[in-house]
Amino acid sequence: MLGPVILAASRSDKMRRFVSAAPGTKQVVARFIAGETVDDVVPIVRDLSERGLEVTLDVVGEDITAVEQSYAARDAYLELIGRLKELGLGERAEMSVKLSMFGQSLENGHELALSNVRPVVEAAAEIGTTVTLDAEDHTTLDSMFAIHEELRKDFPQTGCVIQAYLFRTEEDARRLAANGSRVRIVKGAYKEPASVALQDKAEIDKAYVRIMKILMEGEGYPMIGSHDPRLVSIGQELARRAGRKLDEYEFQMLYGIRTEEQNRLAAEGHRMRVYTAYGTDWYGYFMRRLAEKPANLLFFVRSILTK
Ligand code: FDA
Repeated sequence: MLGPVILAASRSDKMRRFVSAAPGTKQVVARFIAGETVDDVVPIVRDLSERGLEVTLDVVGEDITAVEQSYAARDAYLELIGRLKELGLGERAEMSVKLSMFGQSLENGHELALSNVRPVVEAAAEIGTTVTLDAEDHTTLDSMFAIHEELRKDFPQTGCVIQAYLFRTEEDARRLAANGSRVRIVKGAYKEPASVALQDKAEIDKAYVRIMKILMEGEGYPMIGSHDPRLVSIGQELARRAGRKLDEYEFQMLYGIRTEEQNRLAAEGHRMRVYTAYGTDWYGYFMRRLAEKPANLLFFVRSILTK
């Protein structure tokens, strides 16, 4: 019940101001956001890597309102790539981007986002790594998939995300699996209407399994983005049945969530990538994490009240 309310609040400027200014917020945000600057996140990347984990880095931000912000987003990623070069981790440290932060929803947004993300993908390739395009709300996806296809002409390693809750996704999965893409499958984190998306958790889980099967049996590189223990073990079994070796798929989880499970999978020899978000524009990302688990909201409210 609470999830959709929090997701609606994640798009409200009034709530953004309230949450950002509330005492105690910082402490809760720190569980999910790995710092505000590149200097904060680099030691975390080093530490995760020393523990056998891989990372995908997200400079938080979305739904910008001015072209200048889209250039700033591009530059923030270029700065990050400069620092990753020093670490020399290659594809063990890749990046995730939200095209809405690169200008996708502004005038001529499709072209603007493509022209901003291309130099990031180029710079990533120069240091031996890659970029994955996150999936945002359903209205943005045709543009995201078109940009993904365009980038893959020169950079075939560019990845994208598909969301199990959307009716369209099995078809997207078949297309992407046939053309050998890197694809992250997730349940889906946005508030979507019943006309385009499943609303029932059990139905979403079933769709997730069907889509994992398509990806595992296909030609691409599946990235299983979930903390759900059932889906993780079904993923392992589907990979085994499809004859995939341990380096032919990977698991992904978010920074700060089920850390022990992340360590366990890595210790078992799985590729385990931690989606590590950092930056100052954390509001939308943070609210989606609250919406996913009511206990997070309780913890947040308690920390405000006790400050
Ligand atoms: P589910 O929500 O059922 O959670 C399973 C268990 O995991 C819970 O019982 C709990 O123990 C733990 N858990 C899950 N979320 C938690 C939280 N916030 N706090 C504490 N514990 C939590 N979505 C999207 O729309 N576009 C995208 O591009 C991405 N990208 C992305 C990358 C990666 C690496 C991950 C793991 C997830 C995403 N997501 C996403 C988010 C995704 O759609 C989904 O909302 C979350 O992963 C939660 O779903 P689970 O599969 O973890 O299952």
